[in-house]
Amino acid sequence: MGVYVVTGSASGMGRAVVEKLRQRGHTVVGIDQRDAEIVADLSTSRGRRAAIAGTLAAVDGHLDGAVLAAGVGPAPGAERPRLIYEVNYRGVVELLDGWRPALAAAAEAKVVVFGSNATTTTPAVPARAIRALLAEDIDKAVKTVRIFGRTAPAIAYGASKIAVSRWVRRHAVTAEWAGAGIRLNLLAPGAILTPLLEKQLATPAEAAAIRRFPVPIGGFGNAGDLAEWAVFMLSDAARFLCGSVVFVDGGSDAYFRADDWPRAVPLRRLPGYLRRFRSSGVG
Ligand code: NAI
Repeated sequence: MGVYVVTGSASGMGRAVVEKLRQRGHTVVGIDQRDAEIVADLSTSRGRRAAIAGTLAAVDGHLDGAVLAAGVGPAPGAERPRLIYEVNYRGVVELLDGWRPALAAAAEAKVVVFGSNATTTTPAVPARAIRALLAEDIDKAVKTVRIFGRTAPAIAYGASKIAVSRWVRRHAVTAEWAGAGIRLNLLAPGAILTPLLEKQLATPAEAAAIRRFPVPIGGFGNAGDLAEWAVFMLSDAARFLCGSVVFVDGGSDAYFRADDWPRAVPLRRLPGYLRRFRSSGVG
């Protein structure tokens, strides 16, 4: 049986993951703002440090896996973009950095980060905001989305999830992660009926937009189904999964972006591709 840590354990998909892991006999340390083994506010550096230290102490420096499900949605408000960046981006990458030695101590640890199909279906997310996040410049990322006015939180949400996806994919393949036996992957849900989505549906304007959003199979997903995907991605059967983004979204990503991916490396990027090919040192 394994030892796991789950952020966002008090609600929605994080909570469903905790239940499924415990049903299978695993030990789980939950982290949330309330109703969790470790109560910490992941929107602050102090809270994130407490979450890292509390986890390492609780698991005695050994983690078989982690699920990072804590997140905030694109609710209205001028302060929302900063909160989104702090929780959805910093609340993932700082924790993963802090937990990496404990994950490397396991034989084959697995990490599932909750991304979103907002990464590929939110239009006009500025590249500058994503770059600023990856460069750890939250102030700049906040400024960059200000011009979007009332839609700034939705743009910031898309930017936070793209940046965290890129961070995961860049790190997943490195000596520190893949080379240390850690599998790092993303689960990208579409609209899943959890308290996060219910809050959005309670606002008439947001509800209308959400209900109009194209979902080829129709309706919303449910937390239990997504938790099954996360638990599968933590299992031995997922040992060959590395740096992947698994979309579970009823078809919305394919509906909007069918021809964008997979795509061959364009000729102009061949020199860079060959450079990486020759210097990989893996395989
Ligand atoms: P939820 O709102 O039901 O649960 C999120 C949990 O994160 C809550 O327990 C909340 O207390 C915790 N959290 C938020 N801010 C925190 C903070 N500052 N410190 C500590 N904990 C904090 O949300 P849901 O829907 O289960 O979302 C899980 C993940 O999936 C999130 O990352 C979300 O962005 C993502 N997602 C959700 C979708 C949906 O339609 N529900 C769609 C795509 C992605």
